[in-house]
Amino acid sequence: MRILTGIQPSGTLHIGNYFGAIKPAVELQQRGDAFYFIADYHSMTTLTDPAGRRKNTTAVALDFLACGLDPQRSIFWRQSDIPEVCELTWLLGTLTPMGLLERAHSYKDKVAKGIAPNFGLVAYPVLMAADILLYGSHLVPVGKDQKQHLEITRDIAIKFNQTYGETFVIPQPEIREEVATVPGLDGQKMSKSHGNTIDIFGDEKATRKKIMGIVMDSRTPQEPKPDAGQNLAIQLLKLVAPAAIARDYEERLRAGGLGYGDLKKTLFEHYWNFFAEARARRAELAANLDYVNQVLAEGARRARAVAAQILARARQACGIG
Ligand code: ADP
Ligand code: TRP
Repeated sequence: MRILTGIQPSGTLHIGNYFGAIKPAVELQQRGDAFYFIADYHSMTTLTDPAGRRKNTTAVALDFLACGLDPQRSIFWRQSDIPEVCELTWLLGTLTPMGLLERAHSYKDKVAKGIAPNFGLVAYPVLMAADILLYGSHLVPVGKDQKQHLEITRDIAIKFNQTYGETFVIPQPEIREEVATVPGLDGQKMSKSHGNTIDIFGDEKATRKKIMGIVMDSRTPQEPKPDAGQNLAIQLLKLVAPAAIARDYEERLRAGGLGYGDLKKTLFEHYWNFFAEARARRAELAANLDYVNQVLAEGARRARAVAAQILARARQACGIG
């Protein structure tokens, strides 16, 4: 089974990305052939700073490898190293109804936020379909926000197969319903666009300050807190601390006697320890960028071999070449 997913290099990765995307992707390496890539072409629809894109691309590669992506087992590459993906985008685009693209939530949200719609933004889901179909992917693990993009991919693949004959595998999404949305420092969904993130590999002092700055209510430490389960620091602690410890803190908060300052200090310590090993690995990798580039180059070579075959089949099917 081929499992494929991509992540955009559009900013620094945070613990919402870790629990929502990276950790499940790392675990899925056990279930089949993992094809993971850095979607740098997609990031061009929202980011026009070349140096920023380069920096983020390297950072995402380091983050993924540090968090357990195993290049012996999986294929890991940069999207733009495979030019075939652009060609397939065109073939698919000629069969994609405009209405399908205009109805995409992600497109509509970006336009509503004030991004001027251009061809790339409208075509975003077609490029994503090309990413998926070019490698014969069976399973595509994504967050809930990408569900509709997967439906569009399936529609396009079915239409192509109907028009030109059986060419593409119809992929299945794996929507991570069970992965709870990680809340950010302000209690809303953690997202880089909300400025409420805890980075996976943030600076120690700055992250401590962020966590100690989480705003709580004004109840005294002694007061019992029957709503302890909804407390933001408890929710985050559950992600990064052993279950028994998180439960113990929740009980102490509920019973009264635990101050918010102490709770936040504990949260910071567990966050810091949770990523300690990965942090050390990341520092080693960052000191050895030649190795990281070699991993991406080897990944691109292997991905391209698959892509070339499937693209040739698609071209043949539509009477080109
Ligand atoms: P952001 O909201 O910070 O821009 P992205 O949209 O780039 O993050 O998300 C990349 C991946 O991380 C997606 O698979 C998404 O589902 C996941 N993800 C992002 N934020 C969270 C969160 N707060 N909780 C769980 N998963 C998340
Ligand atoms: N659009 C996805 C996101 O923002 C990233 C992505 C690009 C992707 N191409 C993909 C995900 C192909 C899965 C498969 O999260």
